[in-house]
Amino acid sequence: MKDVSLKGKVFEPFLSSADLQLRISELADYMNEDYAGREVILLGVMDGALLFLADLMRKLSCSFHVHTVKLKSYEGQHSTGTVQKQIDSSVKVTGKHVIVVEDIVDTGLTMGFLREWLKGQEAASVQVASLLVKEDVFQNKFEIKYKGFSIPNRFVVGYGMDYDGYGRGLGGVYVLKH
Ligand code: IMP
Ligand code: MG
Repeated sequence: MKDVSLKGKVFEPFLSSADLQLRISELADYMNEDYAGREVILLGVMDGALLFLADLMRKLSCSFHVHTVKLKSYEGQHSTGTVQKQIDSSVKVTGKHVIVVEDIVDTGLTMGFLREWLKGQEAASVQVASLLVKEDVFQNKFEIKYKGFSIPNRFVVGYGMDYDGYGRGLGGVYVLKH
């Protein structure tokens, strides 16, 4: 893996495509065991979770349906402190087992917001799968049952995650160089 430049900023390799796929297979194995014989709804948080969701789906053997919600809290490299929501009104989760699929949990604002919404919808159960977690910022505000990697508080791109819309298609994860 080589450094990549996006909008004049340089990012260095952090997690390879192979690292990601191996870990996603492990997470899928846990889910296959936990949800065997039950039907689950994967609720992907767009746009960042696109690639994680797609790869996870291909590794799941339990029965599932997929829905997406569009949430946005970041501008550039920073959280705006508010969450913009667009939830498709056809998403019905009442009485269903839900796994929220997220690219990265940073402050936990986005996921906290979605968890409250799901509570209001009376889902049968709600668990969170996040590929990455910035532990120092998140500080375990709620349980993340399926966690890919704990990472330091640095800005990352790739594998669905973007810097102002750029870098989402990279197969691995890259971190902004100091
Ligand atoms: P939170 O609401 O602060 O937990 O931020 C979560 C959302 O912000 C994620 O779903 C991402 O879309 C975005 N985000 C947080 N950290 C990063 C990062 O390092 N790179 C790209 N996007 C990020
Ligand atoms: Mg996201």
